[in-house]
Amino acid sequence: MRLKTVIFVTGGAGFIGSAVIRHLLDETGAYVVNIDKLTYASSLESIPQATAAGRRYRFAQVDICNGPALRRLFEQYRPQFVMNLAAESHVDRSIDGPAEFIQANVIGTFTLLQEALRYWRGLDSAERARFRFHHISTDEVYGSHSGEGLFIESTPYAPNSPYSASKASSDHLVRAWRETYGLPTLVTNCSNNYGPYQFPEKLIPHMLIKNLAEEPLPVYGDGKNVRDWLYVEDHARALTLSMERGTVGATYNISGRSERTNIHVVTTICHLLDEMDPSSRGPRERFITFVPDRPGHDRRYAIDCSKIERELGWKPEHDFEAGLAKTVQWYLTNRGWWQAILERGYKANRIGLARA
Ligand code: NAD
Ligand code: TYD
Repeated sequence: MRLKTVIFVTGGAGFIGSAVIRHLLDETGAYVVNIDKLTYASSLESIPQATAAGRRYRFAQVDICNGPALRRLFEQYRPQFVMNLAAESHVDRSIDGPAEFIQANVIGTFTLLQEALRYWRGLDSAERARFRFHHISTDEVYGSHSGEGLFIESTPYAPNSPYSASKASSDHLVRAWRETYGLPTLVTNCSNNYGPYQFPEKLIPHMLIKNLAEEPLPVYGDGKNVRDWLYVEDHARALTLSMERGTVGATYNISGRSERTNIHVVTTICHLLDEMDPSSRGPRERFITFVPDRPGHDRRYAIDCSKIERELGWKPEHDFEAGLAKTVQWYLTNRGWWQAILERGYKANRIGLARA
């Protein structure tokens, strides 16, 4: 990466965005502008490097639905790359309150595309050729996997939740802005991430904080739904590589090649906690409780990441067992980070049952 590369990271105070920023600050010479509205899911403490980074890091509290504010940021910082991670990201919340998802994920991406296009049109030809708009998306756009094979980049979209439908819509907008206006875009679709600094509404940190509070561990349905898990730092490397070397107009699927049932994940967390934080009150598996299923619950996500491996030479560095052990250790030694979230009012209650 050239010395004075400016990168906009939207959603940089969230789980994956903050991992991307930590990676960019630690491993590259890039200048990063973190554009985040600071919703409930955000935490600026997830970027401990922020102060030491000096001029290489700037934070702007801006909603990506706010066109004029985005325009000012483009004029002020003149980025070469935009990585769009700002989104509402939790399926259960999207079931209870889909409007926020349409606003952030669809209107937000549309507004960001419009402002990126306006800026890009004002660049000289060399700058235009270098510019990239990288949209970060999910494997959930492909729907629930059944039968043989894996999701590949050309698998038709079949989203089932308000969340995945809003992400699918945003992916289509990104494609259309390239085809129609020539904006150099690319899209990556990734499987479930886990690792440090994940908001405790998602399966793995949820089970960790419930476990440490000695509360029931709510496994939806029969616990046999399958997700393909990727350690977040491996995703951050994949994203940087795709942004720098990916082909304009391409889609890259990203995954950890680590399909596991939910019940396997939850049981493994219990065993790891028993080892790392022994309790005299007995094995933690006793907290596992099967609860009513999520409406529209996708049974399995299964993604083929051979294209990014073949074309860009990326591979995950963490296998699931090693990554999960590291994650459990992180939540044990960084209790202050997630306890602050509980103190701010996050209740960890069951949501997303589509009750009127
Ligand atoms: P997250 O919920 O942890 O963080 C999202 C961040 O976006 C938050 O900091 C929030 O404040 C910010 N944000 C939300 N709406 C905004 C708006 N209108 N303007 C500016 N900022 C806004 O999400 P995450 O897990 O880090 O996911 C990041 C991206 O990656 C999302 O687009 C998500 O769809 C995608 N993704 C996530 C996963 C996963 O397993 N977490 C997997 C594949 C893809
Ligand atoms: P989640 O982390 O919400 O990610 P996604 O729905 O985007 O895959 O959930 C992962 C899986 O875990 C999903 O099958 C739903 C299930 N789950 C539970 O069984 N219990 C829980 O408390 C949560 C949050 C999720």
